[in-house]
Amino acid sequence: MWVTSLVSVLPLAVFAFALPSKDCEHKVKEAVVPPRHWVVSGPAPPDHLIKLRIGLPQPNFDVLEDHLYAVSDPYHERYGAHLTKEEVEELVAPHPDSVSEVNGWLSSHGIQEEDVGRSPAGDWLTIKLPVQLVEKMLDTKYHVWKHTGSGEQIVRTTSYSLPKDIFEHVELIQPTTMFGTFKKLKSSLHSISKIDPQLQSQNLPPITDSATGLTVDASCNTTITITCLQQIYNAVGYTPSAGIGNSVGISGYLEDFANRADLQAFFEDQVPAAAAVNATYNFVSVAGGLDPQDPDEVGVESNLDTQFAFGLTFPIESTYFSTAGRPPFIPDIGTPEDTNEPYTDWLDFVLSHPNPPLSISTSYGDDEQTVPESFAKRACAGFAQLGARGVSLFVSSGDGGVGDGDPDPATQECITNDGTNRTQFIPGFPASCPFVTAVGGTVLFPERAVSFSGAGFSNYFSRPRYQDAAVTGFLKKLPAGTYSGLFNPNGRAIPDVSAQSDFFRVFVNGQPFHVGGTSASSPAFAGFVGLLNDARLKKGLPSLGFLNPLFYSKAASGFNDITVGNNPGCGTEGFNATVGWDAITGLGTPDFGKLVKLVT
Ligand SMILES: *[C@@H]1O[C@H](CO)[C@@H](O)[C@H](O)[C@H]1NC(C)=O
Ligand SMILES: *[C@@H]1O[C@H](CO)[C@@H](O)[C@H](O)[C@H]1NC(C)=O
Ligand SMILES: *[C@@H]1O[C@H](CO)[C@@H](O)[C@H](O)[C@H]1NC(C)=O
Ligand SMILES: *[C@@H]1O[C@H](CO)[C@@H](O)[C@H](O)[C@H]1NC(C)=O
Repeated sequence: MWVTSLVSVLPLAVFAFALPSKDCEHKVKEAVVPPRHWVVSGPAPPDHLIKLRIGLPQPNFDVLEDHLYAVSDPYHERYGAHLTKEEVEELVAPHPDSVSEVNGWLSSHGIQEEDVGRSPAGDWLTIKLPVQLVEKMLDTKYHVWKHTGSGEQIVRTTSYSLPKDIFEHVELIQPTTMFGTFKKLKSSLHSISKIDPQLQSQNLPPITDSATGLTVDASCNTTITITCLQQIYNAVGYTPSAGIGNSVGISGYLEDFANRADLQAFFEDQVPAAAAVNATYNFVSVAGGLDPQDPDEVGVESNLDTQFAFGLTFPIESTYFSTAGRPPFIPDIGTPEDTNEPYTDWLDFVLSHPNPPLSISTSYGDDEQTVPESFAKRACAGFAQLGARGVSLFVSSGDGGVGDGDPDPATQECITNDGTNRTQFIPGFPASCPFVTAVGGTVLFPERAVSFSGAGFSNYFSRPRYQDAAVTGFLKKLPAGTYSGLFNPNGRAIPDVSAQSDFFRVFVNGQPFHVGGTSASSPAFAGFVGLLNDARLKKGLPSLGFLNPLFYSKAASGFNDITVGNNPGCGTEGFNATVGWDAITGLGTPDFGKLVKLVT
């Protein structure tokens, strides 16, 4: 009796200790209304693997943010004193209690330390796990969701929970509630068309802009080349150097691949000095990103980005990042690829790099509302880390005017995803992150705003101080009640700046095409910042890093103010370009000649 009861009690007692009490009571961490157009098409296969990312809180992020603003403020004594990789990592490291609590939770589910990937700062954990285990850990149920328009399928849940004891030790877990997906994540290419050879034979007199006094070739009104950008942005004759620690980067996603033969054709057409030495870029694979060079694998976006960013900055060292991910995603195969958005893979990689490029352009984004707020904030915090290390980040502002990126403003839905179905302007992410420089679009010469220039006001990020005066000045000029309820007047406003965005002469499979979109303006702007960094490094000054505090203050006079044009969307005429900052071209386009004086 005694013996048997001991035997039966002992396993029970062990069981009670092994099953942590923390697993008994879960609390909802995040819940979303299923976004429009997504319907459940069935339960998630229990063995489907999910690459789970667990973000631990960064309790000292506000300290990092203070450092970032100090080193980015041209009037601060610490301007330019960027932080090292190790300093940044220390400031985003989680509290040791969070690490041990989460470790305990993972091991209580049989997860071994060797199965857990950790970012250098320890703030992100990555583990491949079957759906059935994730469902148990997060007290949730995953489903295969299908997009009624595109047919795209993803494995997601609308809510997840955490045991009470670790609730505060985890900031977010994805993929859970993230319905903005890899495939949906759009590049901001607006148009592509074969160039009519007739265009080249025009023999018109040069055009002079009476406002700036600049003269450009007549052809620049219909076709943008490297020479045109140098003329329009007052950089003719500026010669950058190699070998002084400067670098420019382009990030590519979605298996849109840059092609080296096309880069060479472009150089022969527009940058003879680069062609003469067969100049090319460093290829960097992120998370297994490929680098095919076959003609049928050529990506227009990546060709546009590499040709213009690297054409403007030759011979500065150039890097093209190819981040893996092959849409469409098929959820019944036991592979974890494609279920995440790409920024975290790219950010993990670049943040772990000792010397990331100093000026980096990304022409990919999606509607802010498709990205859960917790995720947007965390990815944005990653961009801040790069800024603190002296990297300037550029993101296209989008191609939908104030709308949702649908090329036809009349059919843009502009409806909120939160279940209330309100009509609202739709800003883009990551442009809406206050720690990147969002680049809008202009066209023609003299320049005017391009109608598709993505713009608006974030619903996630409040207005950063650096743009307070500029944006409130713009809002005050709006007729009373303008678009009331359609946008958040206290939100981070985009774009910050702009550049030419249409009729770029890009080589694809050896042939010239006209390519347009804020996809073009972002790499072009990044190129000019590469030149500004050249001027600074030559004077022994540090790289520019996070630019917005400089642009909205000391360097504001280095921009051409664009005052003509508007950006229709959501059934409205959008915002007008105005004197000063506006929600279509931001501060305006760069006057390199002025900017170089202001920053050196
Ligand atoms: C530039 O192109 C626009 C649109 O095609 C045209 O209206 C304008 O006259 C052109 N400007 C010059 C100076 O040629
Ligand atoms: C550039 O590449 C071409 C073709 O591969 C080759 O013939 C030429 O010698 C190269 N030029 C230089 C300067 O390396
Ligand atoms: C919002 O739209 C969705 C999809 O059209 C619909 O199912 C839902 O009932 C609407 N909700 C409200 C509050 O109107
Ligand atoms: C844009 O300018 C037009 C013409 O001046 C004006 O009628 C309209 O109200 C302005 N729209 C906004 C949003 O400021």
